[in-house]
Amino acid sequence: GHPVVTIDGPTASGKGTVASRVAAVLGFHLLDSGALYRLTALASARQGVAADDAESLAGIAATLDIRFTGNDVVLDGCDVSHEIRAEAIGLRASAIAVHGPVRNALFARQRAFREAPGLVADGRDMGTVIFPDARLKVFLTASVEARAARRLKQLSDKGFSANMDDLLKDLRERDARDTARTVAPLKPAADAFLLDTSEMSIETAVDAVIGWYRR
Ligand code: CDP
Repeated sequence: GHPVVTIDGPTASGKGTVASRVAAVLGFHLLDSGALYRLTALASARQGVAADDAESLAGIAATLDIRFTGNDVVLDGCDVSHEIRAEAIGLRASAIAVHGPVRNALFARQRAFREAPGLVADGRDMGTVIFPDARLKVFLTASVEARAARRLKQLSDKGFSANMDDLLKDLRERDARDTARTVAPLKPAADAFLLDTSEMSIETAVDAVIGWYRR
């Protein structure tokens, strides 16, 4: 099949930025799998579906009407690129991502992104579950403080208000939930390259990934 590079890691580890730059360098497609969980979170919140109603959530995940064009994320014909980045939607996404039926509903949708000439996929389980045969698997980590600082900057750049104490609490809560869940818990694939980006620029991280890919 077409080559895949997977970039997994915890919240705000830099995977999104690294993945999109690596995709640009290689000329590959990009899958931001977290956006699918965020879209399911947003669509289900709009419909008033409870975060523990796994079957209804899975139905929504399976039938989401979405389009990714450039940096825009379109749900039911409306641009929700900004809305899905809200911290509350990220938290809800992590709450609904614990349900097996939700993850199953998104399985085939994610795999459909594998198209010529190749794909860079970022998320939590890209290397372990969705693309176990990826050409290169990377697991990005960073200290919780470095990640909170990055997320704070990201949110304020987007015009959201945020503070460090709440973000640290959110990140720890999401880390705990992503790691502890029984379905597709967050962990590096056995054959993943680990990269700690706490003290590393995005450029250095991108160079490392490209170097591994071309080795
Ligand atoms: O931006 P951040 O890294 O915090 O999150 P994201 O990648 O946008 O994903 C939002 C949430 O969806 C995460 O907290 C995960 O719980 C969940 N997720 C997942 O379970 N599996 C994936 N492949 C991607 C995201």
